[in-house]
Amino acid sequence: RKDVLIDCDPGIDDALAIALAHGSPALEIVGITTVGGNVALDLTTANALRLREYLGFPDVPVVPGSPGALLRPRLDAAAVHGDSGLGEVRLPPATLPPAPGHAVDFIIETLRARPGEITLTAIGPLTNVALAVRREPRLVEWARELVILGGSYTRGNITPATEFNMAADPEAAAIVFSAGWTVTMIGLDVSRSALATGAVLERMRALGTLGEDLLVPCAEFYGMVTATEGPAIHDACAVAYLIDPSLIEIEPAVVEVETLGRLTSGMTVVDFDLRGRTPNALVGTSIDVARFWDLAMSAYSRINPA
Ligand code: BDR
Ligand code: CA
Repeated sequence: RKDVLIDCDPGIDDALAIALAHGSPALEIVGITTVGGNVALDLTTANALRLREYLGFPDVPVVPGSPGALLRPRLDAAAVHGDSGLGEVRLPPATLPPAPGHAVDFIIETLRARPGEITLTAIGPLTNVALAVRREPRLVEWARELVILGGSYTRGNITPATEFNMAADPEAAAIVFSAGWTVTMIGLDVSRSALATGAVLERMRALGTLGEDLLVPCAEFYGMVTATEGPAIHDACAVAYLIDPSLIEIEPAVVEVETLGRLTSGMTVVDFDLRGRTPNALVGTSIDVARFWDLAMSAYSRINPA
């Protein structure tokens, strides 16, 4: 079993990723930290708290972090995720509060306590992770693994060159990629294939309460504003990789994040041609979509919602 700390900005696909992590017997969520991203920090935190109680892990700390990017105004995605950040899901408000303290301290202390044992996964803008690794550079040794959902070496989703999480805080992303660890980058090149098609929606519906309250409303709301075949459930791809790395092909690369470009700020410049350099990233190139959905459905089916 892998112990995993999830840094997130729920967010519709974040919610589906958190549910996947909780439902999987291969993972144990040891903490959730929140960041301002898709919607403002108070909402991403409220959503993480609602999901925690609804999905059934009330003892796991939820710790709020950075409200916005290091140097830029927050890039909002409420148009995609709804004003609440979770579309029109039917989840009751949370009754339990967030943990005291700040996400950055929580990330550092959690990894310090068990060096080499905790996997860190970030599925929102990288502000918290960047601040944590700047404040405590030994994080790069303590993390068992760092897996992010973000970036792209083909096309973007916010601009032609940039993916949302990278564009939302390019400076933070640049810090994280240059910190000295190997970042597993699951980007749009992979996640664009993980579509919640009509057939997937039927399988979600067949799961009963969880499907009706959370999965289907999430996918349908996300679907209204994205692809025609169905929305891409980006963040769940990073969690799926943690559960079964054989689902996603990865290749070593040198990745740098553009912070200055007029048209490209936030672009992940991915060089698969190492030319003798040590790679700083393992970059996802494709995903076995059928096995991904089988894995997700089997995890979702293990959840008994509140
Ligand atoms: C990423 O952007 C956000 O809107 C999603 O939650 C996901 O983390 C995809 O580009
Ligand atoms: Ca996200």
